[in-house]
Amino acid sequence: MSTRAIVTGGAGFIGSHVVDALLAHGYEVTVVDDLSAGDAARVADEAELVELDIVDADALDALTRRVQPRAVFHLAAQASVVASVEDPGRDCEVNVRGTLNVLESAGRVGAPVVFTSTGGALYGDGVPMPTPETQPPAPLSPYGASKLAAEAYVKTWSLSSGIAHTICRLGNVYGPRQNPHGEAGVVAIFSLHLHEGRAPKIYGHGKPTRDYVYVADVVAALLAAAGRAGTYNIATGVETDVLTVWHELVRAAEERAPALTGVTEQIEPELLDLRPGELRRSRLDVALAQSELGWSAQVPIAEGLRATYSALVEEFERA
Ligand SMILES: NC(=O)c1ccc[n+]([C@@H]2O[C@H](COP(=O)([O-])OP(=O)(O)OC[C@H]3O[C@@H](n4cnc5c(N)ncnc54)[C@H](O)[C@@H]3O)[C@@H](O)[C@H]2O)c1
Repeated sequence: MSTRAIVTGGAGFIGSHVVDALLAHGYEVTVVDDLSAGDAARVADEAELVELDIVDADALDALTRRVQPRAVFHLAAQASVVASVEDPGRDCEVNVRGTLNVLESAGRVGAPVVFTSTGGALYGDGVPMPTPETQPPAPLSPYGASKLAAEAYVKTWSLSSGIAHTICRLGNVYGPRQNPHGEAGVVAIFSLHLHEGRAPKIYGHGKPTRDYVYVADVVAALLAAAGRAGTYNIATGVETDVLTVWHELVRAAEERAPALTGVTEQIEPELLDLRPGELRRSRLDVALAQSELGWSAQVPIAEGLRATYSALVEEFERA
């Protein structure tokens, strides 16, 4: 049996960690990425990198037929909420049409798809906490809407094709290799600011909460989910506000470089209003992933933030 896998978006933050884990499990890995947000340097040398836009159905199909994967991990996406508000057309094209193309090409070779959706942007505000998968989605942004539409295709294609495709609704993922230059990904953004001694902007006056989940935990969930037809929240079930994340990172910076003690504490973040499409609160119910996938997050946030800060500083110093 083939031990090949395709990872779309494998040059991205989460996808590159999925690639590493699959290689460690003995898979031959082909990465499909148009490098619009990804970085070829993140892709392990042992993996094949094919620069391709998933919107190009013919090219994706030819590649999938050649690789004959046993599973497809579909992480390629227009993943920015702000960009989705600015250009909802392109967001739709990549996240909806692109996902349909991935399903069609995977279906032709009988491969199950693991699709990364979003737990935060999908449910909207004013929902029960922790939010279960049964909560009717009410996205606030085009990005949430396109992920919801793509989910519908994944579910329908799973039912109609008899191939078990999976939807994983991720919480706020953080960890090494996260891009510090985007508009989202506060852990990486704050880490860069701390490293450079600059004050970050903190939206929603530091009060919005998220369900932060460490990237290694997410990777373990995606691998456990392959071949399971279902929709799963992949998060910790713990809610943390943005200001707490900042203070934890200040602590991590001071632990790493004791000479900074007292200096980093004096950096005053700029507190601003929430931006359009952003949620006030998010905390996901993770009981289903626990019972059906036998998966639960293992890394507590303080530990994950310390590990992330150290890894990111090494990346900043290498860059
Ligand atoms: N980071 C999070 O907290 C989070 C939360 C929920 C869901 N997700 C989802 O997880 C997935 C991975 O997110 P990430 O944080 O690693 O983002 P990322 O931007 O680092 O990775 C996405 C990758 O997809 C590639 N890509 C974009 N458009 C493409 C296209 N048309 N064709 C081929 N490749 C394309 C990019 O170049 C990039 O390498 C995305 O689907 C995202 O929506 C992420």
